[in-house]
Amino acid sequence: MTNSYLHKLLGLTLLVMLMSCNNQKPSLRIEKSFNDDWLFQKIDDSLASSLSFDDSEWRALSVPHDWAIEGPFKPEFNLRTGGLPVFGKAWYRKHFTLDDSQKDKIVSLEFDGIMNNSTIYINGDKIYHRPYGYMGFELDITPYVNFGESNLIAVEVNPEILSARWYPGAGIYRKVKLEYKNPVHVAHWGTHISTPNITDEEALVQIETSIENKTETLKGAFELQTIIYDEDENEVVTNTAPVNFKDSSTIEIQQSLEIQNPKRWDFETPHLYKAISKIYKDGVEIDQYQTSFGIRTIEFSREGFFLNGRKEKIKGVCLHNDLGPLGSAVNYRATERQLEIMKEMGVNAIRTAHNPTSPEQLELCDKMGILVQAEAFDCWEIHKTVNDYSKFWDDWHEQDLRDMIKRDRNHPSIIMWSIGNEVKEQKEEDGHLIAERLVEICKEEDPSRPTTSGFNNIKIALKNGLGDSIDLVGANYKPTLYAKIMEKYPEMIVYGSETASAVSSRGVYHLPLEKYDKHASLQVSSYDINSPMWAYPPDVEFHYQDAMPNLIGEFIWTGFDYLGEPTPYGGKDNLTFGNWDVDWPSRSSYFGAVDLSGFPKDRFYLYQSQWTKKPMVHILPHWNWEDTDYKEIPVFCYTNAEEVELFVNGKSLGRKIKGVDTTRIPVDFYAWGRKEKYYDSPYRLSWNVPFEAGEIEAVSYIDGKEVARKSIKTAKAPSQIALQPDRENIKADGEDLSFITVKIEDENGIFHPLANNLVNFKISGPATIAAVGNGNSTSTEPFQANYRKAFNGLCLLVLKSKKGEAGEVTIEATSEGLLSKKIIIKTEI
Ligand code: GAL
Repeated sequence: MTNSYLHKLLGLTLLVMLMSCNNQKPSLRIEKSFNDDWLFQKIDDSLASSLSFDDSEWRALSVPHDWAIEGPFKPEFNLRTGGLPVFGKAWYRKHFTLDDSQKDKIVSLEFDGIMNNSTIYINGDKIYHRPYGYMGFELDITPYVNFGESNLIAVEVNPEILSARWYPGAGIYRKVKLEYKNPVHVAHWGTHISTPNITDEEALVQIETSIENKTETLKGAFELQTIIYDEDENEVVTNTAPVNFKDSSTIEIQQSLEIQNPKRWDFETPHLYKAISKIYKDGVEIDQYQTSFGIRTIEFSREGFFLNGRKEKIKGVCLHNDLGPLGSAVNYRATERQLEIMKEMGVNAIRTAHNPTSPEQLELCDKMGILVQAEAFDCWEIHKTVNDYSKFWDDWHEQDLRDMIKRDRNHPSIIMWSIGNEVKEQKEEDGHLIAERLVEICKEEDPSRPTTSGFNNIKIALKNGLGDSIDLVGANYKPTLYAKIMEKYPEMIVYGSETASAVSSRGVYHLPLEKYDKHASLQVSSYDINSPMWAYPPDVEFHYQDAMPNLIGEFIWTGFDYLGEPTPYGGKDNLTFGNWDVDWPSRSSYFGAVDLSGFPKDRFYLYQSQWTKKPMVHILPHWNWEDTDYKEIPVFCYTNAEEVELFVNGKSLGRKIKGVDTTRIPVDFYAWGRKEKYYDSPYRLSWNVPFEAGEIEAVSYIDGKEVARKSIKTAKAPSQIALQPDRENIKADGEDLSFITVKIEDENGIFHPLANNLVNFKISGPATIAAVGNGNSTSTEPFQANYRKAFNGLCLLVLKSKKGEAGEVTIEATSEGLLSKKIIIKTEI
C-alpha cells in the first residue's frame, strides 16, 4: 500500500468524524456503470499495458463485448467452438477520470466475467489475473489511481484454442461496474441470507453480513441496521447490531429476523424480499447495500422433489451461456427472451451447463420463478480439451467454487450446486477425494442446498464412491438405470441430470423416416427420432420418468441450440487439434428444442405436450410435398389433450387416442439393453397421409370436446415478407432489444416452409442491428450484417436501441422478387 493511500484513508477518517460532528451526511456508496468508452484491439503486444502506449487508432466500443461473434467463420477456428475466432490475445483499454469529490473513498471495479485468462493493469501496474472466464471478481483499485487526473485500465485477454468443448465467446463479455464506497462498508458479496425455519405464519431469516474495514485508523463502534422490505416496498422487519472494529479487518455479524405471514417464492408467485444493510458511525449512515432474497422450502427425497411442501417434477433444460447470434456478450433482454421461450415450453428449471452463469440469468430466474441447478465445472484435474480449465485447476478451483457460491447463494431460484459435469475422475479410484473436498467447500459456503454432479459413466462413478460424496446423483443419459441404482443403493436419490440429446434442424424433414448418423445436407430431420449413440429421443426419458413418478425429474440437453459442438457432424477428434474441418460448415449444435435464433423446433411442442396443461396440439411436417416421390407422408401430432382428429382438406382421417395409439420410433442407444431397436411411443400420434395440396389440420379433444386446433396449408411461391417484432416499444438505453421474426409468405399470406430468400434490412432512426440469424447450423453468413437468408421460411433481425435517443425506428425488409415490408418500432426514454 502506498503512503498516499494511507493518507487518503486517514483523511477519510477525519472526514467522517467531522461530518458526524456537523451532522452532515457523507455520501453513501455510489455505483456507476463502467461499460462505455473502452478501446479494443486484437493484438499481442505486452506494451499495451503501459500508459505511454498509443491507442489513438483503437476501436471504441462498449462492453459487454464478444469479439469472436464478429467472425469470420473459418474451419481452422474449429467447429467444436463454433468455427469462430475464440482464441488469441486481445487488449481492452479505458482512460477514465475519478470524481475528485470522492477522493476519500475506496474505489472498486467489479467485473462480472472476462472470457478468459485476463490480466488487469491500472496505470501500468499489473494488479490482477483471473483465468476462469465464468467467474466475476471485484478489485480495490484505490492504491493505484489518482483522483481528478486521467487513469488507465488495460485488460489483456488471452483465451487459448480449445479452451472448451463449446463456444465460450471471447472478451469482456459481462458487465463492469465502478463503485465509490466508504472504507467501512459491506464487503463484496457480503451478505449471506438463509431461511432455516419457514411456516405459513412465520419465517426465520438469518443474515450474516461481512463488514470490511479498509483502514488502520478508523476503529471503534459502528452499527449495522438491516431492514427487510417486501415487494411493495413495505418495511417488514428491522434489526440493529453493534459492530466493533479494533483494526483493519473484516467482521461477520449475525442477525436473526422474523417475517410474519411470509409470501413464498414459487413458480407462479416468485415473491422476492429485499434486505437493506446500513452501516452507521456515530449515528451517521456511511454505507448501504442491497440483497434480494426469497422465502421457499426445498426438499429432495426418494419420494420426489418438494417445493414449498408440494411435489413437483423438475422439467429442466440445460443451457449453455451463449445467446445465439448475439454471442456470449451478456444482454438482459436476450436472456429474458430465452427464459420466456423456455417457460412457454413448460420448463420450470435450468441447469447452467457447465459453468457459473451470468448474474442476469439468475436475477431473471428469481423474478420469473424458474429453478436453477448452478454448475461450477466441466472438468477437474483431468482435461477434456487441450486447453480447458484443468490447466488452472490446482491454483483456482477452490476460489472459483467458493466465489460462485458466495456470489449466488442468496438466489431463491437455486436449488442445487453441481460440482461438475461428466468429469474424467469418475473413472479414477481416488476421484471421490476431489468430490469430497468440493462438497466440503459447498457445505462450508452454503449448508442449505444439496450438492450434485452429472455422471455419464455412472456405474463406475458409483463404484468409485463419487456417488456417496454428493447428495443428488445425476445420471447423464441413463434412464434405463434409474430403478436399478435406486434399488442397489437404498439411500441414493437419482435423477436425469442430462437427458435425450436428440438432434434436429428446424423445418427440415427427411424421408424415408429413418434414423441416421449423418446426412449429406449436414442437417438433421425434425421428425424427432435422431440422436447420437449415447442418446435417445425424448420419449424414452418420458417413459422412464412416468414409470417412476417419484423421480425428481430431468434436465434435457438442451433447451436452445448453442454455438459449437455440431454433433452428429464434426468428426470424432475435434476435441484435439485433428479433424477441424470434417463436415464444415456445420458449426453449431442441433440439440436444442429451440433453434439458435429462438424459433421453436417440433421438439419444443413434444415437450410442451408432456410438460404443460393449457390445451395444445402440434402438427408436422410442412405441407409442401409437391415434388416428393413418396406416396405417403408421415404426419405426427403432439398434444396434451386426450384425442386428436386429423383432417386433410376437410376430410377426417379419424381420431387417435393419446397413450393408446402409438407411433413406432427407432431407438438403439447403447444403454437401451432391449432386444428391439424401436419404441412404440404413446407420446405421439401419427398417420401416413397421401399428399394432397391444400390444408392439413389437427384438432384435439378432451372429454370429446374440442380444446385446440392447428393447421398447415400448402404455400404457393414465395411472394412477400412479414415482420413480427416481439416488442414494438423498447427502452432507449442502448441495451434493450426488439426481436423481429422475418417470415416469407406466399401471395395469400401463407407461411412458406421451404423459402430461403435473401432478405436485406434498412434501418432508419435511433437503433442499430445487434444481430441477424436464421437457426441454420451450417450458415457461415455473419451474425452482424444487414442481410440474412431465410432458412425454411424464417430469419431473425435483432434491433438494439441507442442510449438516450428516443424516437421512431423504421425497419424495411426487402428481397429480390418479393413484396417488401416496413414496420416501426419506438424507442422510449
Ligand atoms: C454430454 C455432455 C454435454 C454435451 C452432450 C451432447 O455428454 O455433458 O456437454 O456434450 O453430451 O450429447
